Amino acid sequence: MENIDVVKKSMEKTMEKLNQTVSFLQKKIKITPEIAITLGSGLGAFAKKIQIEVSIPFSEIPNFFAPTVIGHSGLLIVGLIEGRRVLALQGRTHFYEGHSMDEVVFPTRVLGLLGVKTLILTNSAGGCGDGMQAGDLMIIEDHLNLTGTNPLIGPNLNELGPRFPDMTEAYDKELRAKLESIFKTNGVRYQKGIYGGLSGPTYETPAEVRYLKMIGCSAVGMSTVSECIVANHMGMKVSGISCITNLAAGIASHKLSHNDVTETATKVEAAFTKALMDFVAVI
Ligand code: HPA
Repeated sequence: MENIDVVKKSMEKTMEKLNQTVSFLQKKIKITPEIAITLGSGLGAFAKKIQIEVSIPFSEIPNFFAPTVIGHSGLLIVGLIEGRRVLALQGRTHFYEGHSMDEVVFPTRVLGLLGVKTLILTNSAGGCGDGMQAGDLMIIEDHLNLTGTNPLIGPNLNELGPRFPDMTEAYDKELRAKLESIFKTNGVRYQKGIYGGLSGPTYETPAEVRYLKMIGCSAVGMSTVSECIVANHMGMKVSGISCITNLAAGIASHKLSHNDVTETATKVEAAFTKALMDFVAVI
């Protein structure tokens, strides 16, 4: 078989799997929320504030993968928060875990097919913007896809969106303004900037961080960009928040570890959760 036929077959299989997962979840979730939130490393505490209606471990959802990363619980939760019904994914699938891009973006595509209109993507990231401190929150204004690939490579899934999706406002402008006003009101330290998405799993070298800064990144991480791409493909509005858990390599005076990431995320947990709750209330 020609390579393109193999790819076509695998795309058909993707659509089949998506439909299977969507019908499974539709049976469990009676009213689909319009807002979904993907909670990044160590940022799962928000889920505790949800009045839970449905909670399903990823391991029980067909075609979902249980997370392998510490700080990611792997739960899909639906419930009420601030009077709004939301769907939260507590944990995500990363490219560096060895999954294909199709697998990484699978849960995001499921959200779109379920009828989610607004997707809030959160992550932990290293800060390289001027004046950044560990514990800052960053409103993602735009991203640089530096993963070396794109989740839309291959025959276009016309059922999901167009061949050449526009990315002019990949992170919705109105949502960015709303988020900024909440951060101001709540008095949290925040930044605005461009998120550089790399594959990981290594943290960057100091030379890479100098390069990333030079090309315009304020924060660097190992997720989000691919999810943002498929969400835009499907016409969802996207909002992105990075928790700057550490200064990026070479800016920090010490070596980096995942423990530092989860520790800082835990420290900002309360401020992050409150801001996210206020945000959901005004979307
Ligand atoms: N680099 C990449 N990803 C990260 C970092 C970092 O410094 N911190 C948290 N996630």
